[in-house]
Order: sequence, then structure tokens, then C-alpha cells
Amino acid sequence: MRKFSVVIAGGGSTFTPGIVMMLLDNSERFPLKSLRLYDNDAERQATLGAALEILLKEQAPEVEFIYTTDPEIAFTDTDFCMAHIHVGKYAMREQDEKIPLKYGVIGQETCGPGGLAYGMRSITGMLEIIDYMEQYAPDAWMLNYSNPAAIVAEACRVLRPDSKVLNICDMPVGTLRRMSQIVGKQPKDLDVRYFGLNHFGWWTSVKDKEGHEYINQIRDYVAEHGYLTQVEVDTQHMDESWQATHKKAKDILAVDDRYLPNTYLKYYLFPDDEVAHSSCTYTRANEVMDGREKTVFDAARRIVETGTAVDSGFHIDSHASFIVDLARAIAFNTHERMVMIVENNGAIANFPDDAMVEVPCIVGSDGPEALAQGKIPMFHQALMHQQVTVEKLAVEAYVEGSYQKLWQALTMSKTIPSAKVAKELLDDLIEANKDFWPELK
Ligand code: NAD
Ligand code: G6P
Ligand code: MN
Repeated sequence: MRKFSVVIAGGGSTFTPGIVMMLLDNSERFPLKSLRLYDNDAERQATLGAALEILLKEQAPEVEFIYTTDPEIAFTDTDFCMAHIHVGKYAMREQDEKIPLKYGVIGQETCGPGGLAYGMRSITGMLEIIDYMEQYAPDAWMLNYSNPAAIVAEACRVLRPDSKVLNICDMPVGTLRRMSQIVGKQPKDLDVRYFGLNHFGWWTSVKDKEGHEYINQIRDYVAEHGYLTQVEVDTQHMDESWQATHKKAKDILAVDDRYLPNTYLKYYLFPDDEVAHSSCTYTRANEVMDGREKTVFDAARRIVETGTAVDSGFHIDSHASFIVDLARAIAFNTHERMVMIVENNGAIANFPDDAMVEVPCIVGSDGPEALAQGKIPMFHQALMHQQVTVEKLAVEAYVEGSYQKLWQALTMSKTIPSAKVAKELLDDLIEANKDFWPELK
């Protein structure tokens, strides 16, 4: 069987060990020739790189493994780049979350003003790695988790329309895992219909392979418990704040119970509740630094100290399985059905062709082919129109260096009460992001 070379961009990410473990777990279905880590922060990546080097020597000595900050060494002759860079890292995530809260506005990594601030940083980093890939591995595909995926995807559509970049999110697969537990099935036994934008969508159908529809059964469960399940279904999305998020789906469903909501809709439909429960001094970024980051990097240091990765403490999860399944779908033309972020082009009949939407696709060697989701109701359509306008204005602001357009993007966001607050916030964000954003005039 053919063997593949993979580079993980953002090698120092807390998600890197999980993806590496998943790749090794799939070595029969997706054989590896070489695996490389690439990051622009040598020190951060070295901790994970040194540990993974030991793990690979023990578990897959036949795979060539390196970690590097040199893009030529990292990208040359690779088949896939699995990307999860975070421009500005947790220090800037903390700012993205804390600055809006000063104005009583949602402080979130990908939604509202924090998401816009992060988007304006991420575009530059994404263009950099796409260009490296195209220079050193012109036939490769980039499978991209780097957030905010909606803005990154729109930026790719506008600025790199011919690049082989697929933008993905783990929330639909993570939630499907919960739904499958609710109905007593395996996630792979279920096919969904879904429409929306990234972190802004709804399931309209969840069926098994025999065609039995489970949406009503799941709706009744979610109306009572949200997506909280009886037993733990994943190692990801388990912290207390995530449990509150799964539970909150109950309130989102009550607003419109035709379809099952993505949990991220809470930031747009219940921003007041969210702000009321947020601390201005300790946000999710702090939780992640004290939790996942510490756990993953402590585990890596332990491996290096002891010289063995037996009982490594690294976990695989639905996040890792999704990106490996996607690589397999392209490598072996599996035609797997997967929810992806793609240009609409009629998939949602009554929504603009040039919007980047999240819908089920059939994925093969030529990439994703979107499945038609038909017309959507006015309520969902209007919400999506407002949000997609925010995302498009942000990308236009980036391309044109336009202060006005970014102010309009913030003003348009459902999370911000007025143009006045939007302007105050923008000025604060410009100051905090001055090392990262293009100059706005
Ligand atoms: P992290 O800070 O641990 O890792 C990000 C890494 O990217 C860091 O090591 C950093 O040095 C590196 N980096 C930053 N800019 C870079 C550049 N220009 N070139 C190369 N490397 C660069 O963050 P994390 O919490 O592990 O998350 C990583 C990313 O994955 C984030 O963007 C996060 O939002 C995203 N993510 C997305 C999904 C999804 O559903 N799409 C799910 C989980 C995580
Ligand atoms: C979900 C989303 C991702 C986001 C992540 C944040 O998985 O789909 O887009 O990056 O949550 O999780 P965290 O644990 O870092 O808050
Ligand atoms: Mn996501």
C-alpha cells in the first residue's frame, strides 16, 4: 500500500500528540512514510517534538520523524499538511476573551469581537503556511483546523482560491458522537443533514444506514438534557465549562425546535446569560492553560525525563479521528460523508453562492462535493446572513486595510449592542493586536 508524508503545522499545539497517536493507530489504513512537525516557536515545539520522537521510536520506528522551524525541510515532498496554528497563542486568546468582557460583550475565541480579532491575526499566518506548502509540496493538501475557521475559510476563498486547503471543525463530529450515544448507535452508523456557517449551524436529520430517522428522539432528549450524555463519550469537550455548554443546547433548542442546534449558537442567542456567567479575570484561555496545556506539556516532559512513552498520557479523540479520516478519504478516494466548510454554490438553495457554509459533503480524491440541503427557513437564513456579512466584512477589512469595514463588521455582529461600543472595542483591539494586524486606515 502507498505510504504518505505528513507535516503538522503548529507542531507545538496541544492537539499535536493526539493527532500523532491517531495516525499511529491508523497505520494499517493510512501508512506513514514520514511525519514532520513544523512551528515558528522552536522552544514550544521542542518539548512535544522530543517526546514524540521517543514515542515514534518505540511504536513506529519505520516512520521518519523530525521537528523543525525550517519550512523547506518541513514541507518538501509532503502529501498532507494538517494545520492547527494559533497566531498569538494563548496570551492573545486571553486578550480576545477579556477585552470584550470589559464592554459587557461576549469574550470568546471564535465568536464576536474575539473571533474577529483572532481572524485578523490568523489570515497572515495561514497565508504564510499555504504559500510554504505550495512552494515546497505543490501537490499537497492542507487539512486545516486553525481558527477562526469561518474567517480563515473566507480568506482562503478570496485570497487563495486555487489552493488545496480544506477547512474543518470538530464540533459537528464531537456532537454527533453525543447524539450516537443518546440513540445507542456508533457515530459511523449515522448520516446527517446539516446546514449553517462554521460554529453557526443546525442538524435537520440524523439517520442510520437503514434510513431510520432519529431526529425526534434526539430532540426530546436535548429538550431535557441538552447534549449532556450519561457516560463520557470523548476525552475532549469534558471540562466543566464545556458541560455547561452541552447543557445550554436545551435553551437554544427551545428558540426553534425544528432542528438540532450547534452549541456555539449560545453566544449569539443568549449573550446576556453568557456574559453574566463569565469572569473578566479568568476565562477559557486560563482554564486551557491550567488544564489541557499543562497536562499535555507535563506528559511530554515526563516522557523525555523517563526516556519512554509507554503510558504516555496522550489521548486520541474525535478531533484527531476526523482529520485522519479526512486524509484517508482523499488518499484512498473513500467517498466518506463528512461535514465540511465549503463555498455554498447552491448547497443551501436560498443562500448566497459565494458564502463559505458548513454542510455534509462526499469526500474523495478531488476533495469535497457538497450535498444539496435545500431551502432553509427565514429565521435561520436571516441569522446566517447577518453572521456571514460579519465574516465577509472582516476579510474585506483585512484585504483593503480598512478601519471602516472592520468597524462595520463589529457593528453587524449580533454580539455587540451598538456602533458606539463597536468602535470603542475596535480601538482597544487594534492596540492589543498591533504586533499582528495589518495597519488599518
Ligand atoms: P496552541 O497555542 O497550543 O498551538 C498553536 C501552535 O501554533 C503554537 O505552538 C504556536 O507556536 C503555533 N503557531 C502560531 N503561529 C504560527 C505560524 N505562523 N506558523 C507556524 N506555527 C505557528 O493552540 P491549541 O489550543 O492547541 O489550538 C491550536 C489551533 O487549533 C487553534 O487555532 C485552535 O482554535 C484550533 N482548533 C480548531 C478546532 C476546530 O474545530 N477547527 C478544534 C480544536 C482546535
Ligand atoms: C471546539 C471547536 C473548536 C475550538 C475548540 C476550543 O472543538 O470546534 O473550533 O477551537 O472547541 O476548545 P478549548 O478546549 O480550547 O476551549
Ligand atoms: Mn470548531
